[in-house]
Amino acid sequence: MSENILVIGACGQLGTELVEALRNIYGDQHVIASDIRQSNDDVFKAGPFETLDVLDKNNLTNLLQKYQPKQVYHLAALLSATAEAQPKFGWTLNMDGLFNVLDAAIDFKIGKVYWPSSIAVFGPNTPVNNTPQNCVMDPNTIYGISKLAGERYCEYYFQKRGVDVRSLRYPGLIGYKSAPGGGTTDYAVSIYHDALTQGKHECFLGPQTELPMLYMPDALKATLDIMHAPAEKVKIRSSYNLAGMSFSPEEITTAIQKYIPDFTSSYKPDHRQAIADSWPNSIDDAEARKDWGWQPDFDLDKMTKDMLVNLAPRYGKSLSI
Ligand code: SER
Repeated sequence: MSENILVIGACGQLGTELVEALRNIYGDQHVIASDIRQSNDDVFKAGPFETLDVLDKNNLTNLLQKYQPKQVYHLAALLSATAEAQPKFGWTLNMDGLFNVLDAAIDFKIGKVYWPSSIAVFGPNTPVNNTPQNCVMDPNTIYGISKLAGERYCEYYFQKRGVDVRSLRYPGLIGYKSAPGGGTTDYAVSIYHDALTQGKHECFLGPQTELPMLYMPDALKATLDIMHAPAEKVKIRSSYNLAGMSFSPEEITTAIQKYIPDFTSSYKPDHRQAIADSWPNSIDDAEARKDWGWQPDFDLDKMTKDMLVNLAPRYGKSLSI
C-alpha cells in the first residue's frame, strides 16, 4: 500500500496513537502527521511532520498539494471542558476546521475522510441507558453542539457532494501512551497515573457518575476497521454509536484496588459534573456490530491490568499482576 495519508491534529491523545498504528500499516513515510503544535513523542520522528493550522486554508491547500493524500483523518478539535472555557473559539475550530477539510476533500479528490464525533452529541433528554443510534439529541455543550452539527454536515457532504466521510461517536478514550486534552472523561486516564504515583486520586466527578468509555487499542481497531470497510458497508454517514465499557469513578477505583489494594479515591465534583450528567451511561452500538463487524476486546478489568502493567515501569514500579 503506497498511498499517502494525512492526519490533522496528530499530536492529541488519539492522533499520537493513530499515527503510530497507521505507520505500521502504510509505512512511516506515507503517513503525514500534522498539528498546530510540535510534540516530542518519538512516533513523530519516524516520518513526515508538518505544522498545520486547519483554520488556515492556504496552509491546508499547500499540504494537500505537496502530499496528495488519499485519506485524511481530521482530529483537530477542542474537547468538551476546553470548549466550554473558550466557546467562540471552540465553535470556530470545530466547525470551520471540518468545513475546510470537507471542501478540500472535493477539490483534491481525497478518497476517504475520517472525522470523530462523540457521546457529547447526546443531551439531558436523551435516554441514558443503552442509548440508541437515533433518539432525542439535545447537547448542551459547545463541543456537543458542534459535533452534532458536524455529523449533519458529514452526512450532507456524503449525500449531496459524494464525499466518502466516515465517523464514530467515541466514548471517553483511555490509553497509556498519550495524554488526554481537556475532556470530561480525562479522569479515567489520570486515575491510573495517580494510583501508581500517589496511591490516591481526587476525582472531579462524583463516585456514581457512570460514563461510556473505550480502551485505546479498541478505539484504534474501530477507527481502522470503519476506514478499511468497503464503502457499501458503512451505512451510517453521520456517525456510528460505539461502545466498549461503562463504569463510574467508584467502579474504576475498585478495579484498580484489585491490583493496588491501598489505593483510594476522594471526590470533588467541579464544573465537569454537569457535562457528565448530560451524557449517557451506556451506548447501544448494534449498528456498528451489524454493518462492519465491530466488537470490543477490552472490559474494565482487562483494561485496568493492561494500563497498570504498561504504566508501572514509567514510575519505577513493578506490580505482581
Ligand atoms: N472524551 C471526550 C470529552 O470528554 C468525549 O468525547 O470531551
